[in-house]
Amino acid sequence: MIEDSLGRSFKKLRISLNSICNFACTYCVSEEDVNSPRKAHTGKSLNAKEFASLVLKMQSHLQLEEVRLTGGEPTLYSELVELVYLLKEIGIPKIALTTNGYLLSKLAKDLKQAGLDYMNISLDAMDSEVFSKMSRGRKLEKTLDGIYSAKENKIPFKINSTIMKGYNEKEILPLLEFAGKLGVTVRYLELMKMGHLSGKMPEDIFTEKEILDTISEQYSFEELTRKKSSTANYWITKEGFQFGIIANESSPFCGDCNRLRLDSQGSIYGCLSSNHAFSIREAVYSEIPLEPILYQALFKKQDYKFSGSTLGMMYIGG
Ligand code: GTP
Ligand code: SF4
Repeated sequence: MIEDSLGRSFKKLRISLNSICNFACTYCVSEEDVNSPRKAHTGKSLNAKEFASLVLKMQSHLQLEEVRLTGGEPTLYSELVELVYLLKEIGIPKIALTTNGYLLSKLAKDLKQAGLDYMNISLDAMDSEVFSKMSRGRKLEKTLDGIYSAKENKIPFKINSTIMKGYNEKEILPLLEFAGKLGVTVRYLELMKMGHLSGKMPEDIFTEKEILDTISEQYSFEELTRKKSSTANYWITKEGFQFGIIANESSPFCGDCNRLRLDSQGSIYGCLSSNHAFSIREAVYSEIPLEPILYQALFKKQDYKFSGSTLGMMYIGG
Protein backbone atom coordinates (compact mmCIF):
# COMPACT_ATOMS: atom_id res chain seq x y z
CA MET A 1 0.00 0.00 0.00
CA ILE A 2 1.38 3.39 -0.98
CA GLU A 3 0.87 5.46 2.17
CA ASP A 4 2.41 8.51 3.86
CA SER A 5 3.17 9.09 7.55
CA LEU A 6 -0.36 10.47 8.11
CA GLY A 7 -1.84 7.24 6.72
CA ARG A 8 -2.94 8.92 3.50
CA SER A 9 -3.07 7.08 0.21
CA PHE A 10 -4.52 7.77 -3.23
CA LYS A 11 -8.06 6.46 -3.64
CA LYS A 12 -9.65 9.10 -5.86
CA LEU A 13 -8.11 10.02 -9.16
CA ARG A 14 -9.18 13.29 -10.78
CA ILE A 15 -8.38 13.51 -14.47
CA SER A 16 -8.31 16.96 -16.03
CA LEU A 17 -9.28 16.08 -19.61
CA ASN A 18 -8.49 19.47 -21.16
CA SER A 19 -7.63 23.08 -20.36
CA ILE A 20 -10.43 24.80 -22.19
CA CYS A 21 -13.75 26.06 -20.98
CA ASN A 22 -16.90 27.55 -22.50
CA PHE A 23 -17.26 29.78 -19.39
CA ALA A 24 -14.88 32.45 -18.06
CA CYS A 25 -15.97 32.61 -14.42
CA THR A 26 -14.68 35.55 -12.40
CA TYR A 27 -12.98 33.32 -9.81
CA CYS A 28 -11.22 31.32 -12.51
CA VAL A 29 -10.30 33.80 -15.28
CA SER A 30 -8.73 37.18 -14.49
CA GLU A 31 -10.04 40.45 -15.90
CA GLU A 32 -6.89 40.74 -18.07
CA ASP A 33 -7.35 37.27 -19.56
CA VAL A 34 -11.03 37.50 -20.25
CA ASN A 35 -10.69 38.69 -23.82
CA SER A 36 -7.91 36.31 -24.77
CA PRO A 37 -8.88 32.82 -25.94
CA ARG A 38 -10.39 30.88 -23.03
CA LYS A 39 -7.62 28.37 -22.97
CA ALA A 40 -4.68 27.61 -20.73
CA HIS A 41 -1.82 26.97 -23.14
CA THR A 42 -1.02 23.30 -23.30
CA GLY A 43 -0.55 20.66 -25.95
CA LYS A 44 -3.17 18.26 -27.19
CA SER A 45 -4.87 16.14 -24.53
CA LEU A 46 -4.19 12.43 -24.33
CA ASN A 47 -6.85 10.43 -26.15
CA ALA A 48 -9.34 8.23 -24.30
CA LYS A 49 -7.33 5.03 -24.83
CA GLU A 50 -4.17 6.72 -23.51
CA PHE A 51 -5.95 7.99 -20.39
CA ALA A 52 -7.46 4.56 -19.80
CA SER A 53 -4.09 2.87 -20.21
CA LEU A 54 -2.53 5.15 -17.55
CA VAL A 55 -5.44 4.53 -15.19
CA LEU A 56 -5.09 0.77 -15.63
CA LYS A 57 -1.38 0.92 -14.83
CA MET A 58 -1.91 3.10 -11.76
CA GLN A 59 -4.79 0.91 -10.65
CA SER A 60 -2.50 -2.05 -10.05
CA HIS A 61 -0.66 0.03 -7.39
CA LEU A 62 -3.55 1.99 -5.94
CA GLN A 63 -6.89 0.16 -5.99
CA LEU A 64 -8.70 3.37 -6.85
CA GLU A 65 -12.26 3.71 -5.58
CA GLU A 66 -13.23 6.56 -7.87
CA VAL A 67 -12.17 8.37 -11.00
CA ARG A 68 -13.56 11.87 -11.43
CA LEU A 69 -13.38 13.54 -14.83
CA THR A 70 -12.80 17.30 -14.75
CA GLY A 71 -11.26 19.96 -16.98
CA GLY A 72 -11.22 22.76 -18.02
CA GLU A 73 -14.68 21.67 -18.99
CA PRO A 74 -14.87 17.90 -19.53
CA THR A 75 -17.97 18.02 -21.76
CA LEU A 76 -15.77 19.76 -24.37
CA TYR A 77 -13.53 16.68 -24.53
CA SER A 78 -14.65 14.86 -27.67
CA GLU A 79 -13.99 11.33 -26.36
CA LEU A 80 -15.72 11.79 -23.01
CA VAL A 81 -18.35 9.08 -23.52
CA GLU A 82 -15.78 6.62 -24.86
CA LEU A 83 -13.55 7.26 -21.86
CA VAL A 84 -16.40 6.49 -19.44
CA TYR A 85 -16.93 3.17 -21.26
CA LEU A 86 -13.22 2.36 -21.06
CA LEU A 87 -13.00 3.18 -17.34
CA LYS A 88 -16.03 0.96 -16.68
CA GLU A 89 -14.30 -1.85 -18.54
CA ILE A 90 -11.25 -1.47 -16.29
CA GLY A 91 -13.58 -1.97 -13.34
CA ILE A 92 -13.32 1.43 -11.61
CA PRO A 93 -16.06 1.22 -8.94
CA LYS A 94 -17.28 4.82 -9.32
CA ILE A 95 -16.94 7.14 -12.29
CA ALA A 96 -17.88 10.76 -11.66
CA LEU A 97 -17.87 14.02 -13.59
CA THR A 98 -17.55 17.66 -12.52
CA THR A 99 -19.09 19.98 -15.11
CA ASN A 100 -20.64 23.40 -15.62
CA GLY A 101 -23.62 21.58 -17.13
CA TYR A 102 -23.90 23.85 -20.18
CA LEU A 103 -23.66 21.04 -22.75
CA LEU A 104 -25.06 18.31 -20.56
CA SER A 105 -28.54 18.09 -22.04
CA LYS A 106 -26.97 16.71 -25.25
CA LEU A 107 -24.73 14.23 -23.44
CA ALA A 108 -26.56 12.97 -20.36
CA LYS A 109 -28.27 10.00 -22.04
CA ASP A 110 -25.03 8.71 -23.59
CA LEU A 111 -23.08 9.26 -20.38
CA LYS A 112 -25.66 7.30 -18.42
CA GLN A 113 -25.51 4.48 -20.97
CA ALA A 114 -21.71 4.45 -20.80
CA GLY A 115 -21.93 3.91 -17.04
CA LEU A 116 -21.36 7.35 -15.49
CA ASP A 117 -22.27 7.00 -11.80
CA TYR A 118 -22.26 10.51 -10.44
CA MET A 119 -21.94 14.22 -11.25
CA ASN A 120 -21.24 17.52 -9.58
CA ILE A 121 -22.77 20.38 -11.56
CA SER A 122 -21.73 23.99 -10.98
CA LEU A 123 -24.50 26.53 -10.59
CA ASP A 124 -23.53 29.85 -9.00
CA ALA A 125 -26.87 31.67 -9.10
CA MET A 126 -30.60 31.28 -9.67
CA ASP A 127 -30.88 34.86 -10.94
CA SER A 128 -29.99 35.04 -14.63
CA GLU A 129 -28.22 38.40 -14.35
CA VAL A 130 -26.07 37.27 -11.45
CA PHE A 131 -25.35 34.00 -13.26
CA SER A 132 -24.31 35.92 -16.35
CA LYS A 133 -22.08 38.26 -14.30
CA MET A 134 -20.33 35.35 -12.55
CA SER A 135 -19.83 33.34 -15.76
CA ARG A 136 -19.21 36.41 -17.93
CA GLY A 137 -22.13 36.16 -20.25
CA ARG A 138 -23.39 32.59 -20.13
CA LYS A 139 -27.08 31.72 -20.05
CA LEU A 140 -28.62 30.30 -16.88
CA GLU A 141 -31.26 28.35 -18.84
CA LYS A 142 -28.69 26.13 -20.53
CA THR A 143 -27.16 25.05 -17.21
CA LEU A 144 -30.65 24.46 -15.80
CA ASP A 145 -31.45 22.31 -18.88
CA GLY A 146 -28.31 20.31 -18.09
CA ILE A 147 -29.45 19.85 -14.48
CA TYR A 148 -32.90 18.68 -15.56
CA SER A 149 -31.37 16.25 -18.06
CA ALA A 150 -29.26 14.70 -15.27
CA LYS A 151 -32.47 14.23 -13.30
CA GLU A 152 -34.36 12.76 -16.28
CA ASN A 153 -31.56 10.33 -17.02
CA LYS A 154 -31.33 9.32 -13.37
CA ILE A 155 -27.69 10.29 -12.90
CA PRO A 156 -27.33 11.28 -9.23
CA PHE A 157 -25.68 14.65 -8.72
CA LYS A 158 -24.89 17.53 -6.37
CA ILE A 159 -24.76 21.23 -7.15
CA ASN A 160 -21.56 23.24 -6.53
CA SER A 161 -21.88 27.01 -5.97
CA THR A 162 -18.83 29.18 -5.47
CA ILE A 163 -19.79 32.15 -3.34
CA MET A 164 -18.12 35.53 -3.85
CA LYS A 165 -18.75 38.51 -1.63
CA GLY A 166 -20.51 41.27 -3.55
CA TYR A 167 -21.47 38.91 -6.36
CA ASN A 168 -23.75 36.08 -5.34
CA GLU A 169 -24.14 35.80 -1.57
CA LYS A 170 -27.82 36.72 -2.02
CA GLU A 171 -28.16 33.55 -4.10
CA ILE A 172 -27.39 31.24 -1.16
CA LEU A 173 -31.01 30.84 -0.08
CA PRO A 174 -32.54 30.59 -3.59
CA LEU A 175 -29.94 27.91 -4.44
CA LEU A 176 -30.77 26.00 -1.26
CA GLU A 177 -34.49 26.11 -2.06
CA PHE A 178 -33.99 25.12 -5.72
CA ALA A 179 -31.77 22.16 -4.81
CA GLY A 180 -33.92 21.14 -1.85
CA LYS A 181 -37.09 21.03 -3.96
CA LEU A 182 -35.24 19.04 -6.62
CA GLY A 183 -34.13 16.60 -3.91
CA VAL A 184 -30.40 17.18 -4.41
CA THR A 185 -27.61 18.52 -2.21
CA VAL A 186 -26.11 21.95 -2.85
CA ARG A 187 -22.56 22.72 -1.72
CA TYR A 188 -21.21 26.20 -1.27
CA LEU A 189 -17.51 26.74 -1.96
CA GLU A 190 -15.25 29.27 -0.32
CA LEU A 191 -13.01 31.01 -2.83
CA MET A 192 -9.63 29.37 -3.33
CA LYS A 193 -6.22 30.97 -3.79
CA MET A 194 -5.68 29.48 -7.22
CA GLY A 195 -4.49 30.85 -10.53
CA HIS A 196 -4.99 34.61 -10.62
CA LEU A 197 -6.02 34.58 -6.94
CA SER A 198 -2.88 32.77 -5.80
CA GLY A 199 -0.58 34.50 -3.34
CA LYS A 200 -3.32 36.68 -1.92
CA MET A 201 -6.22 36.16 0.40
CA PRO A 202 -9.12 37.01 -1.88
CA GLU A 203 -10.98 40.04 -0.51
CA ASP A 204 -14.20 38.63 -1.87
CA ILE A 205 -14.09 35.41 0.15
CA PHE A 206 -17.46 34.66 1.76
CA THR A 207 -16.58 32.39 4.67
CA GLU A 208 -18.17 29.20 5.96
CA LYS A 209 -19.44 31.13 8.99
CA GLU A 210 -21.02 33.80 6.80
CA ILE A 211 -22.70 31.11 4.69
CA LEU A 212 -24.08 29.39 7.81
CA ASP A 213 -25.25 32.74 9.24
CA THR A 214 -27.06 33.51 5.99
CA ILE A 215 -28.87 30.17 5.97
CA SER A 216 -29.76 30.43 9.66
CA GLU A 217 -31.71 33.64 8.95
CA GLN A 218 -34.40 31.44 7.35
CA TYR A 219 -33.73 27.84 8.33
CA SER A 220 -32.76 25.73 11.31
CA PHE A 221 -30.39 22.90 10.57
CA GLU A 222 -28.12 20.33 12.13
CA GLU A 223 -24.67 19.14 11.15
CA LEU A 224 -24.20 15.64 9.72
CA THR A 225 -21.23 13.42 10.50
CA ARG A 226 -18.34 14.08 8.12
CA LYS A 227 -17.35 11.15 5.91
CA LYS A 228 -13.62 10.36 5.79
CA SER A 229 -11.73 12.18 3.00
CA SER A 230 -14.67 14.43 2.19
CA THR A 231 -13.99 17.91 0.83
CA ALA A 232 -17.20 19.19 2.42
CA ASN A 233 -18.99 19.31 5.75
CA TYR A 234 -22.74 18.76 5.46
CA TRP A 235 -25.89 19.97 7.24
CA ILE A 236 -29.60 19.24 6.87
CA THR A 237 -32.48 21.66 7.47
CA LYS A 238 -35.70 20.70 9.26
CA GLU A 239 -37.40 20.60 5.84
CA GLY A 240 -34.85 17.98 4.70
CA PHE A 241 -32.78 20.30 2.47
CA GLN A 242 -29.22 18.99 2.58
CA PHE A 243 -26.33 21.37 1.99
CA GLY A 244 -22.56 21.27 2.29
CA ILE A 245 -19.70 23.74 2.50
CA ILE A 246 -16.27 23.24 0.98
CA ALA A 247 -14.22 25.57 3.14
CA ASN A 248 -10.59 25.43 2.10
CA GLU A 249 -9.85 28.42 4.33
CA SER A 250 -12.17 27.92 7.32
CA SER A 251 -12.32 24.12 7.60
CA PRO A 252 -9.32 22.60 5.82
CA PHE A 253 -9.48 18.91 4.96
CA CYS A 254 -5.91 17.88 4.12
CA GLY A 255 -5.58 15.51 7.09
CA ASP A 256 -7.27 12.58 5.37
CA CYS A 257 -6.93 13.66 1.73
CA ASN A 258 -7.04 10.74 -0.72
CA ARG A 259 -6.86 12.59 -4.04
CA LEU A 260 -4.42 12.24 -6.92
CA ARG A 261 -4.56 14.32 -10.09
CA LEU A 262 -3.69 13.48 -13.69
CA ASP A 263 -3.54 16.36 -16.16
CA SER A 264 -4.46 16.33 -19.82
CA GLN A 265 -0.82 15.84 -20.83
CA GLY A 266 -0.14 12.74 -18.74
CA SER A 267 1.44 14.26 -15.62
CA ILE A 268 0.36 13.51 -12.07
CA TYR A 269 0.12 15.87 -9.11
CA GLY A 270 -0.09 14.63 -5.52
CA CYS A 271 -1.63 17.79 -4.16
CA LEU A 272 -3.76 20.63 -5.48
CA SER A 273 -1.44 22.98 -3.63
CA SER A 274 1.64 21.81 -5.49
CA ASN A 275 2.47 22.64 -9.09
CA HIS A 276 5.11 19.89 -9.21
CA ALA A 277 4.19 17.72 -12.20
CA PHE A 278 5.47 14.15 -12.45
CA SER A 279 5.13 12.98 -16.04
CA ILE A 280 3.99 9.39 -16.46
CA ARG A 281 3.06 9.80 -20.12
CA GLU A 282 5.80 7.39 -21.09
CA ALA A 283 3.93 4.65 -19.23
CA VAL A 284 1.27 4.64 -21.96
CA TYR A 285 3.67 2.91 -24.34
CA SER A 286 6.33 1.37 -22.13
CA GLU A 287 6.79 -0.28 -18.77
CA ILE A 288 8.23 2.24 -16.31
CA PRO A 289 8.31 1.80 -12.53
CA LEU A 290 5.32 3.81 -11.34
CA GLU A 291 5.54 3.15 -7.61
CA PRO A 292 8.45 5.52 -6.86
CA ILE A 293 6.76 8.28 -8.86
CA LEU A 294 3.48 7.79 -7.00
CA TYR A 295 5.36 8.01 -3.69
CA GLN A 296 7.07 11.24 -4.73
CA ALA A 297 3.70 12.70 -5.68
CA LEU A 298 2.13 11.57 -2.39
CA PHE A 299 4.84 13.37 -0.40
CA LYS A 300 3.74 16.67 -1.99
CA LYS A 301 0.54 16.69 0.06
CA GLN A 302 -0.01 19.50 2.53
CA ASP A 303 -0.19 18.46 6.18
CA TYR A 304 -2.93 20.82 7.18
CA LYS A 305 -4.23 23.31 4.67
CA PHE A 306 -4.38 24.23 1.00
CA SER A 307 -1.78 26.98 0.73
CA GLY A 308 -2.51 28.24 -2.78
CA SER A 309 -1.39 27.35 -6.27
CA THR A 310 -0.32 29.26 -9.33
CA LEU A 311 -1.98 26.59 -11.46
CA GLY A 312 -5.32 27.79 -12.74
CA MET A 313 -8.47 25.81 -12.07
CA MET A 314 -8.93 25.67 -15.84
CA TYR A 315 -5.74 23.67 -16.01
CA ILE A 316 -6.02 21.32 -13.08
CA GLY A 317 -9.76 21.24 -12.40
CA GLY A 318 -10.14 22.59 -8.85
P1 GTP B 1 -17.41 14.59 -4.02
O1 GTP B 1 -16.68 13.29 -4.06
O2 GTP B 1 -18.73 14.51 -4.69
O3 GTP B 1 -17.46 15.19 -2.65
O4 GTP B 1 -16.60 15.60 -4.97
P2 GTP B 1 -15.39 16.62 -4.71
O5 GTP B 1 -15.79 17.73 -3.80
O6 GTP B 1 -14.19 15.84 -4.31
O7 GTP B 1 -15.16 17.16 -6.19
P3 GTP B 1 -15.56 18.49 -6.98
O8 GTP B 1 -14.96 18.32 -8.33
O9 GTP B 1 -17.01 18.74 -6.93
O10 GTP B 1 -14.78 19.62 -6.23
C1 GTP B 1 -15.42 20.74 -5.69
C2 GTP B 1 -14.41 21.65 -5.08
O11 GTP B 1 -13.80 21.02 -3.98
C3 GTP B 1 -13.27 22.08 -5.97
O12 GTP B 1 -13.64 23.11 -6.83
C4 GTP B 1 -12.28 22.54 -4.93
O13 GTP B 1 -12.68 23.80 -4.44
C5 GTP B 1 -12.49 21.54 -3.83
N1 GTP B 1 -11.57 20.43 -3.95
C6 GTP B 1 -11.74 19.27 -4.64
N2 GTP B 1 -10.68 18.48 -4.49
C7 GTP B 1 -9.81 19.14 -3.71
C8 GTP B 1 -8.53 18.86 -3.21
O14 GTP B 1 -7.96 17.79 -3.43
N3 GTP B 1 -7.93 19.79 -2.44
C9 GTP B 1 -8.52 20.96 -2.14
N4 GTP B 1 -7.84 21.79 -1.37
N5 GTP B 1 -9.73 21.30 -2.60
C10 GTP B 1 -10.35 20.39 -3.36
FE1 SF4 C 1 -5.27 17.18 -0.43
FE2 SF4 C 1 -3.46 18.96 -1.13
FE3 SF4 C 1 -6.08 19.49 -1.36
FE4 SF4 C 1 -4.92 19.38 1.02
S1 SF4 C 1 -4.50 20.89 -0.58
S2 SF4 C 1 -6.89 18.47 0.44
S3 SF4 C 1 -3.44 17.72 0.72
S4 SF4 C 1 -4.94 17.93 -2.47
